[in-house]
Amino acid sequence: MRVDSMILEGFRNYGTQQVEFDPGVNVITGDNAQGKTNLLESVYFLTCGRSFRARYDRELIGFGHEKAYLCAGIDSGGRQQKLEAKLSHGVRKQFFANGARLKTASELSGRLTAVLFLPDDLYMVREGAASRRRLMDNCLCQLRPAYAAALSEFSRCYEQKTRILRDRLEKPSLLDALDEYNYRLCELSSVLIGYRARFIKTLAPKAAEIHREFSGGEELGLVYRTVKTVEDALAQPSEILPQLLAHQEAHKRAELESGLCLSGAHKDDLEICINGNPAKEYASQGQARTAALSIKLAERELHRADRNEAPVLLLDDVLSELDAQRQNFILNRIGGGQIFITCCDGGRTAELTGGRIYTVKGGTIV
Ligand SMILES: Nc1ncnc2c1ncn2[C@@H]1O[C@H](COP(=O)(O)OP(=O)(O)OP(=O)(O)O)[C@@H](O)[C@H]1O
Ligand SMILES: [Mg+2]
Repeated sequence: MRVDSMILEGFRNYGTQQVEFDPGVNVITGDNAQGKTNLLESVYFLTCGRSFRARYDRELIGFGHEKAYLCAGIDSGGRQQKLEAKLSHGVRKQFFANGARLKTASELSGRLTAVLFLPDDLYMVREGAASRRRLMDNCLCQLRPAYAAALSEFSRCYEQKTRILRDRLEKPSLLDALDEYNYRLCELSSVLIGYRARFIKTLAPKAAEIHREFSGGEELGLVYRTVKTVEDALAQPSEILPQLLAHQEAHKRAELESGLCLSGAHKDDLEICINGNPAKEYASQGQARTAALSIKLAERELHRADRNEAPVLLLDDVLSELDAQRQNFILNRIGGGQIFITCCDGGRTAELTGGRIYTVKGGTIV
């Protein structure tokens, strides 16, 4: 998977820009607020028809512009393709593949795939479990449509059950449906748990291998944590279900008393350890960043194994806080696919031994 060229017109702070990319490493440097992340965003937009940071698509249209246009020349499985996006104020966004209009953004899926690393992903190591669940969910949703379907039903059921527990005192009749929701949530949890456990089982050794080289010898451990009563998360959903129902039953009273959902896969976590110590408590900034990046790079390997082709890697501002050896790893030793890296300090790129460096200034690549 590769982006060979991109045309941007009226996208964010870009006027009209055409750029050819390197099949290997593309380093995008420049001062703050010049358009480095905007360029990554343009590539990402064509993978799924959404931005990773805009709340509304209209934010993507340049100030004073009526519309925005993106056109990427990509190589997917050895086939040249053209992907286009058109955005206008007050009109639905449009996507085209090789000139043919796509009905919805979801038809973009699978044409150009990317693994994205944003500065906030660093918090995945340090913060609460939600960000680590998001990591598992994002990757599994891309790789396994059945997981995406189960997760979306799970979220709906979870919201319903939360509403029942929250409003139970004003409307006691809501409680009639509670048992049904409890059961369905356990059923769906058993499916999610199976997928997550298998995902982490494949991801962990790959991430550990990458982290070892990246850090010069640190051991990265990833352990999937789920509902306590589950004896073997890798077992069949039918075996896990009774164990989840037992946990649910044991917490039924506490749920009614607290008004909170206490049992289910929504509380899962991914434990990250570096050299045997929980990274959440003990990792340094650089270690946390290295671990998060190793996990993302391992995610890329899972995509590669699945599709026989590496997705494009989009790394926003990852070089800061890394020492020279770790920066060198990112710039020169990841390999095996196309990479886009933004960074502020052009000096860091002195170590780049292949690929290409672009400098962005005020929405123009100079
Ligand atoms: N719709 C828009 N029209 C015009 N300019 C915009 C639009 N949206 C964002 N910008 C501007 O684009 C500029 C560059 O944004 P971008 O996030 O790409 O910067 P950056 O080079 O990644 O900077 P940093 O190093 O701080 O991350 C910002 O000044 C922002 O105000
Ligand atoms: Mg930026």
